[in-house]
Amino acid sequence: MDLGGRVAWVVGASSGIGAAVARELAARGARVAVSARRADRLASVAEGRMLVAPADVTDRAQVHAAAARVEAELGPPDLVLLCAGHWQQMPAGTWDADSFERHLQVNLVGMSNGIDAVLPGMVARGRGVIAGVASVAGYRGLPGAEAYGATKAAQINLLESLRLSVRRSGVHVTTICPGFVRTEMTEVNEFPMPFLVEPDEAARAICDGLERDRNEIVFPTRMAVLMKLARFVPAGAWARVLASRR
Ligand SMILES: NC(=O)c1ccc[n+]([C@@H]2O[C@H](COP(=O)([O-])OP(=O)(O)OC[C@H]3O[C@@H](n4cnc5c(N)ncnc54)[C@H](OP(=O)(O)O)[C@@H]3O)[C@@H](O)[C@H]2O)c1
Repeated sequence: MDLGGRVAWVVGASSGIGAAVARELAARGARVAVSARRADRLASVAEGRMLVAPADVTDRAQVHAAAARVEAELGPPDLVLLCAGHWQQMPAGTWDADSFERHLQVNLVGMSNGIDAVLPGMVARGRGVIAGVASVAGYRGLPGAEAYGATKAAQINLLESLRLSVRRSGVHVTTICPGFVRTEMTEVNEFPMPFLVEPDEAARAICDGLERDRNEIVFPTRMAVLMKLARFVPAGAWARVLASRR
């Protein structure tokens, strides 16, 4: 996909990866709309060059209203990047059911609401790209990531299933799995974050992958290789490798 002149809607664009991708898309010539809850932060990302359409992804009506604004003001979206996300470490040895539900609402229901708002139009037009930001954390269980990792694994499966379901409609689905990126989400982490990259580097990797019509964009390369290989490690060996983490 040549990004020049395309209508791109980035959901979860008020900070971090989504904000950096919105800027990168604009730099590559796309006409960009940005959504998230914090309207002031969206406005500073937009710098007057993007459409600001605030929405809470957990509220389906708000997501549909934002999608309608994008279509009315910029035209039907060629690309929708679903990037909104929530992360909170599960406390060791206990269970936080409220936190679990919040992850489900933002990461999973939020992604579903975004797809719901744009897929019928894309299928009717016979074109469009839905790109969902999951995580390499969805590849394997990690200590403290019981809620986050479960939703990221579900997103990976959801996006792959959707890709297969819509493959004859002209709609393309891309699964994006970043490793660690320095954002507001990760600044609270007290554990080591190997191969950490900056949001700008993440945005370039994502836009390069979108331009190449990738099914999957996984970065940085060393983390991609590590976590893809990790899927083949037997459960007992994986537990021993991570025993020192907590
Ligand atoms: N950073 C990493 O290392 C990393 C690695 C792998 C995957 N990811 C994924 O990348 C995505 C972006 O994360 P990030 O690292 O860039 O973190 P971030 O800077 O905290 O960005 C999270 C974004 O999600 C939005 N968001 C959260 N809850 C929302 C809601 N209810 N409705 C609408 N928007 C909401 C936030 O905006 P508002 O608060 O303004 O609503 C913000 O724009 C997430 O899906 C995350 O899981 C991150």
